[in-house]
Amino acid sequence: MKLQDTGLTAQELKDMVNKYMIETYPRYDFIAERAEGMYLYDEKGEAYLDFYGGVAVNSPGNRNPKVVAAVKEQVDDIMHTFNYPYTVPQALLAKKICDTIGMDKIFYQNSGTEANECMIKMARKYGIENYGPDRYEIITAKEGFHGRTMGAVAATGQPGTAIQEDFGPMLPGFTYAEYNNLNDFASKVTPNTIAIMIEPVQGEGGVHPATEEFMSGLRKLCDDHDMLLLLDEVQTGWGRTGSPMAFMGYGVKPDAISMAKAMGGGMPIAACCASEKVAKAFSSGTHGSTYGGHPVACAAALASISEILDRHLSENAEQVGNYLIRKLSKLPHVREARGKGLLVGCEYELPIAMDVKWGCMKRHALITAIGTDINRMIPPLIADRKDVDRLVDIMQEAVEEAAANYIRKNRVA
Ligand SMILES: Cc1ncc(COP(=O)(O)O)c(C=O)c1O
Repeated sequence: MKLQDTGLTAQELKDMVNKYMIETYPRYDFIAERAEGMYLYDEKGEAYLDFYGGVAVNSPGNRNPKVVAAVKEQVDDIMHTFNYPYTVPQALLAKKICDTIGMDKIFYQNSGTEANECMIKMARKYGIENYGPDRYEIITAKEGFHGRTMGAVAATGQPGTAIQEDFGPMLPGFTYAEYNNLNDFASKVTPNTIAIMIEPVQGEGGVHPATEEFMSGLRKLCDDHDMLLLLDEVQTGWGRTGSPMAFMGYGVKPDAISMAKAMGGGMPIAACCASEKVAKAFSSGTHGSTYGGHPVACAAALASISEILDRHLSENAEQVGNYLIRKLSKLPHVREARGKGLLVGCEYELPIAMDVKWGCMKRHALITAIGTDINRMIPPLIADRKDVDRLVDIMQEAVEEAAANYIRKNRVA
């Protein structure tokens, strides 16, 4: 749907959103009407360079032609059936994912937070069935992020922030340890701990990749204590960090993983994959989802994942991501540019990240901000060096402007 078909002005449409919608998002000040590859187009047809990819979703490119074709074809056959009959897209996608990432089983969900709920429930049931009623505790990381449903909120190690505050009581059974600190994780293990759950790269927590020692150390810790290693790959999964799943780049095999975002290439779909022994915890009636495994979403996911793999987009993510980090490191006021593949954070010495984000938007480049000091870049994985050059030129102007404003207002040297 386009604005011109409605008879409304842009302002009238924005007013309608503010009047009727419960707004929790700071909006870019334009109407996104069309998208293609690395660009979004507004209601006036103006192009915006996309370095947020619908928040790490549109990895094979905005409206990737193969994903679009798969959706159209599937819509013409069957849209929704629930999980009573077998459907072709579900079967083909399950085999593709399990074979590619070396996991035994998959359960389809619709969003990242649901995939994490599925993983948490599976781990709890596995623990209680195999070791007794008290073995359900899970250690997660401080500053992690796992989603907005109650289990995922409790798993998110950010007490006192807007994510948890006033939503209490939190689901019991979670303790938090410092990310990349093996000793802290080890010190939190009790006889009732059944699992450790982390993101391979903390995204919302400021773009902090796990170290190799941390990942392999967690695997050993889990093996030594008969615990499960659960990885939240909602943001890192499907090419973003330089390998099909981030765990494959570390050479550390988890017992279960969650995935979403890039999986559907722009259609909402998610999943939890597990080893045979963990997956056995679920049997008839123990878990379910009306839309999970929706044929159209599965067809889109099959096309999205095939594009990411066939076009070697994870390799591209690694090369272009490293190039982006090198260029960002040279911008003024940057304390550190870091990341893994095309999950990149740029941290400043000044609290200017929000202003840089809006400054970039004004100049038609789209990035995200985390807190006050960090911008995050999570573009489609088709981004190339020219796209990076264009973004960094725009960021340079936005950083200089934001820093000058900040320094003037605060009179700091
Ligand atoms: C690591 C991680 N886990 C879970 C989620 C929640 O996913 P969703 O918003 O699809 O529920 C996100 C979303 O950004 C995420 O980055």
